[in-house]
Formats: sequence, C-alpha cells, structure tokens
Amino acid sequence: MERVGLSRPWTTPLPRWMMTVATLPYALFDDPAVMAAEESRIFGRSWSAVAFAADLAEPGQTFTARIGRVPVVLARGADGVLRGFVNVCRHRGHPVAEGGGARRLFLCRYHGWSYGLDGCLLRAPEAEQAKGFDRGALGLAPVSVAEWRGIVFAHPDPQAAPLVNANPALEVFGADAGFNLGAHRPFHSASFDIPANWKLVLDNTVECYHCPSIHPATLNRLYETGGFGGAVWSGAVRHSRAEMAGGRGRHDCIVLFPGSYLAADSVLGILGRIEPEGAGRTRLTFRFAATPGADPALAAEFAAIWCETLTEDVAILTEQARGIASGAVAAGVLVPGPENCLIHLRNLVQHMLGDGASPLAAHSPEPTCN
Ligand code: FES
Ligand SMILES: [Fe+2]
Repeated sequence: MERVGLSRPWTTPLPRWMMTVATLPYALFDDPAVMAAEESRIFGRSWSAVAFAADLAEPGQTFTARIGRVPVVLARGADGVLRGFVNVCRHRGHPVAEGGGARRLFLCRYHGWSYGLDGCLLRAPEAEQAKGFDRGALGLAPVSVAEWRGIVFAHPDPQAAPLVNANPALEVFGADAGFNLGAHRPFHSASFDIPANWKLVLDNTVECYHCPSIHPATLNRLYETGGFGGAVWSGAVRHSRAEMAGGRGRHDCIVLFPGSYLAADSVLGILGRIEPEGAGRTRLTFRFAATPGADPALAAEFAAIWCETLTEDVAILTEQARGIASGAVAAGVLVPGPENCLIHLRNLVQHMLGDGASPLAAHSPEPTCN
C-alpha cells in the first residue's frame, strides 16, 4: 500500500504549539453570533469549489451555489468567458437564477428584470422610463471565479487573490496527485440537511478515524481506509492512503478549508460542498462524476455506496450535535495522529475568527493538554 507524501515538506510534524488537543469550545458550535462571524471572516474570505468544469464548459451554461451567506451564480458567456455574480437582483433582492443549466440570460421572476450572462442589466420593465434611471450602474455584482484542474471555484470578493496564490497547498497536493477532473462526466448528486454545525460536518469529512466503526460495510468496501491520517498544510488536507480496495489503483482526496471536498480515482470524481445554514444546520452536497473510461454501472454502484456512507455520517452527526448542544460538557479532545488534520482546522478557525472584537472573546478557551 502506498503512503503518499512522507517526503514532502508539508508532512513535517506539527509544531508543538499546534499539538494541544482540546477541540474548540462546544459553545462555538451553536452560537448565531459565531456563525455570523464565520460567514464573513471565513467563508467570505475563502475560495470554495462550486462546480465541475463540465457543468460550465459550453457558452450559456450556468450554475448556482452559496458561499457562506452569499448566493452566487456562475455563467459561461457567449464569448466563452466564465464569470461569476452575486445571485441577487439589483431591483429588490430576489435571486436571478435558480438551479443551473443552459440559458440565454438571467430573468428575475419577481418583476421581470433581466441581465445578460455578462451581468449587465438588459431590461427593467417600466423602470427604464424613470428620470435618471442608470441601467449601466445596475448590473449584477461580480464575484471572483477560477478554474483549477477541472473544478470551478468562486470567492465572494471580486478582488480576491488568485486561487493558487491564496491556497499554495492546493496546487502542491493537486500536482502531486496528478489531480484533474476536467474530463469527468457528472451523473449523480445527493444533498443532506444535517442538524449540526458546519465545523462538525467538516471534521467528519476530513477524518477517517471513524471509518472502521461507522462505515465497515460501506466506504471501507471501496477504499483502504484503516489508519487514515492525512497530509495537512495551509488550509488543505490530503488523505494519506492512496490505494483503493480490490486493486483499483490510487484514490486521491483533497479537502480545502472551509467547505470543499474533492476526490478522484479510477471510477469516480467527487465534488462535495459544505454550506452552513445557520449555526445549527448544514447542507452537505456531494456530486459524483464518472472517470473517463470507467464502467458506468460500477460508477453508479460506487456513488450509491458513497450515499449510504454519507447517510451513516448524517446519523452520527445528528447525535453528536445533540450531545454538544447539551451544554453539559465544555469541549472534547482530538487524537494526535489520526486527528492531526482536525487540530490544523481548529487552529485555522481560531486564527480566522481572531480575538478581541470577535465573538470568540465571549468563550474563553478550555485548558489544553500538551
Ligand atoms: S426583485 Fe428582481 S425584478 Fe424585482
Ligand atoms: Fe464518514
């Protein structure tokens, strides 16, 4: 079995200051003020995976998603350029697009304002006759977009630093894995409405410490998951076990903080998205694409097993969130080794939320063990 990345600089042991093992205080998992800060300071300042390149390959194709509290719509214009916008009508705030698919323009169904796929306002019934109406000033607000190895990303800030500059670990992991989903064909999508904070969902997605106990008949049939560890650096996590069960070759997985899950192997490409919906609710969406040359029946079977796996995770997360919300326990502990990635993610949350004016100041950290 191949263990990936042991010679890489990002696999150096975690520094001592990162080896404290308490989880975040449980009070941070159901506090609306913390959630609001996370939406703006974490999701609002991060790149998130949105779609497969195949979803937006042709002129006229569009795709919607939400990044933190910001709804976005992506479109490939007739000129072939990929653009992204805040999916909020400049009239009075209704989305201009729902779902995805091919369209010639965005038509807000509330009062009928329409926009080109370049974001420019085309028609505003009756408003156009109003004195001083400035159509040119009422285009859709832009967001940043990027294509990387067959995945389309978006960032709510139109002036965001380029994806690879902002996430150097993503490119290091992606290059090492030969990761590319550009020719994959999306064929299945599954969404789960989970009554748990997004950080619990992220932690569950990143670690496979739980796989032998929760997924013995599902995920563990597909991948050699026992002892899953992970290479971790700068907001990106790469799972360290690379062999699929049954001699089907490599399986590469990259999780990009805060909510993007990417995986590729000889059967499937996977794009997972974690979207918070308030402090105590999370929408988890996993989309599956067939690897070029893969048997479609096998790809469908694997996707079905993945969905069973995620259903098992939802059940676990639901009960875990109840325990945490009890308020009877202040925090948990993380296990150095199999949960090193979670230590890294915990530190990122703390770093990005900051202190002082942050709502974190209301929740003093628990003492930690070294
Ligand atoms: S809110 Fe879009 S047309 Fe009125
Ligand atoms: Fe799981």
